[in-house]
Amino acid sequence: MAYETIIVETRGKVGLITLNRPKALNALNSQVLAELVAAVNGFCANADIGAMVITGSEKAFAAGADIKEMQAISFVDAYVQDFFVGWEELTRARKPVIAAVAGYALGGGCELAMMCDFIIAADNAKFGQPEITLGVMPGMGGSQRLTRFVGKSKAMDMCLTGRMMDAAEAERCGLVSRVVPAGELLEEALKAAAKIADFSLPSVMMAKEAVNRAYETTLAEGLRFERRLFHSLFALDDQKEGMAAFVEKRKPNFSNR
Ligand code: CAA
Repeated sequence: MAYETIIVETRGKVGLITLNRPKALNALNSQVLAELVAAVNGFCANADIGAMVITGSEKAFAAGADIKEMQAISFVDAYVQDFFVGWEELTRARKPVIAAVAGYALGGGCELAMMCDFIIAADNAKFGQPEITLGVMPGMGGSQRLTRFVGKSKAMDMCLTGRMMDAAEAERCGLVSRVVPAGELLEEALKAAAKIADFSLPSVMMAKEAVNRAYETTLAEGLRFERRLFHSLFALDDQKEGMAAFVEKRKPNFSNR
């Protein structure tokens, strides 16, 4: 597929996707969605890829859903098309996806970052759900995912006032996993992704599945799910290899089997 709104590259075992609509601060339109879904699904299907990074520019990860595309849409069209439902496809990626966020991550941009498995932020990152300032509200998961990440009080503050939070506040409240200097963002994100991609893919995928399950089930069911996945890993060559390598004081050589 020829991409026009994103740049798709591989760096070793890592798939790198860069949002590339600089004139619109990477606003997310239906073409971006189609291309992102194709790129992520392509990397998921590629046995040489173990993890992905989604990033934007230094000024903007993404300044939101494309307001110019949405402006004239009617209620009937929005409802009948189930407008924005397509973004959920990204959350079904089974390989890890890291969001590397510099600059603005607003509205759909913040929501896209939260659909990823974790967020590494540059020190110039700014997160927000400013939809309220446009006479609407978050529509790509912001009211639900932000609340789970940062709690009710801060999520209400962000969604009702539309204010932005900086990288330090985002790290304090658990929205991002770490903050790095802007100039080192991509390098740090790629390093984290490469580290993940070097581990045994089935164990990485199961760990991701288990953490995600924590958001969707009770503690008792989640613990049972975790334990069953943990048990199943003992069927893998990679469990034998990983533990043997520890005992023999050498680096493991995982085969993803
Ligand atoms: N959609 C479409 N175009 C956008 C955009 C968006 N979300 N954000 C920025 N742009 C465009 C601007 O229209 C402008 O284009 P023109 O040069 O053609 O006028 C260009 O990007 C540069 O933007 P600014 O001149 O505004 O840049 P700035 O540095 O002065 O301000 C900003 C940066 C504060 C991020 C400002 O652009 C802004 O507030 N953007 C909108 C943020 C927003 O409201 N996002 C939520 C969108 S709704 C949503 O996401 C719904 C949902 O839940 C999914």
